[in-house]
Amino acid sequence: MSIIRAAITGVGGYVPDYVLDNFELSQMVDTSDEWIMQRIGIKERRILKEPGKATSDMAVRAITELLEKTNTDPDEIDLLVCPTITSDMPFPSTANIIGYKLGLKKAFTFDISAACSGFIYGLEIVSRLVENGTYKKAVLVGADMMSSVTDYTDRTTCPLFGDGAGAVLIEPVTEEVGVIDRIIGYDGSGIANLHMKAGGSLKPASHETVDNREHFVYQEGQTVFKAAVSKMSDLSVEIMKRNNIEPENLAYLIPHQANKRIIEAVGKRMGIRTDQVIMNIERYGNTTAATIPLCLWDFEKKLKKGDNLILTAFGAGFTFGSILLRWAYDPE
Ligand code: UT7
Repeated sequence: MSIIRAAITGVGGYVPDYVLDNFELSQMVDTSDEWIMQRIGIKERRILKEPGKATSDMAVRAITELLEKTNTDPDEIDLLVCPTITSDMPFPSTANIIGYKLGLKKAFTFDISAACSGFIYGLEIVSRLVENGTYKKAVLVGADMMSSVTDYTDRTTCPLFGDGAGAVLIEPVTEEVGVIDRIIGYDGSGIANLHMKAGGSLKPASHETVDNREHFVYQEGQTVFKAAVSKMSDLSVEIMKRNNIEPENLAYLIPHQANKRIIEAVGKRMGIRTDQVIMNIERYGNTTAATIPLCLWDFEKKLKKGDNLILTAFGAGFTFGSILLRWAYDPE
């Protein structure tokens, strides 16, 4: 019997229309286009401004495009997973809300909380459920409305984040494509360096937590920066080694988009060329669980069947992972 693998068979994406550029940010906090471009590499990010809209609405738009592109009947979707840290509401899950808005009839739905590694954690879980034969048409949608948890009076975090959603269809295949290998992990010692202080059961929302601006991303940037570079590069090198993939046999590295300097340092440590590193951070910023699928969406036309891709991410938790993915289809 041939091995069943889980392959990405289509991609959809959505970013809101509103563009928040560095000039507008420099009128909100003491910063400049020059500093942001030099230290982070972000020119602009998209912000969801439509009243009454939230993370689920971006996910619905990304999935609608995905279903259209792949000629998939929503009734066939049997699994819907949404990595996000900006759920529409504390409960029910955002995947539940997305499924309802799309009218999915037979899907099993749940969210994943793994911050910037959400898409990698999601791909690990969904691929296992598809490989074991339980689900045949799964949708994984990384979606985050980071503007809802960003403090636009804090210059050390507000230039970093943007809003968006990226969705992939995952199906069983018997060819040598799809998820080939994975290394996933966490390190709880990083909890102190990147978190949101209030709004959970530890510190429920109160007048005091709002006054203290504790419902926003808290980050100790330099510690996170160093850990992100070493973890993403170490895991990516390890997964290449154990699958006998030399740098020249790697088509692309698709890293989480948090900081251009982090991405460049990871590529350098892996010994790959700059044209092997996929980047769109300049236009969208860090959209948390959406960065990797939005890269697939933006660069889909460059990807060919059989291409070896390394997807890698690092985020709050700390959470991290690298996945070796062999691309399953040629561009149209
Ligand atoms: O996706 C989840 C994981 N997150 C990440 O991977 C983010 C990791 N961290 C980073 O990307 C970087 O650490 C930051 C972009 C957050 C900060 O860059 P940095 O090069 O580490 O800057 P820094 O925190 O060391 O600050 C250097 C200086 C400070 O001024 P002083 O103390 O030297 O006078 C900051 O106050 O830059 C100042 N600064 C700014 N100046 C202008 C910090 N933010 C800004 C700003 N504009 N926006």
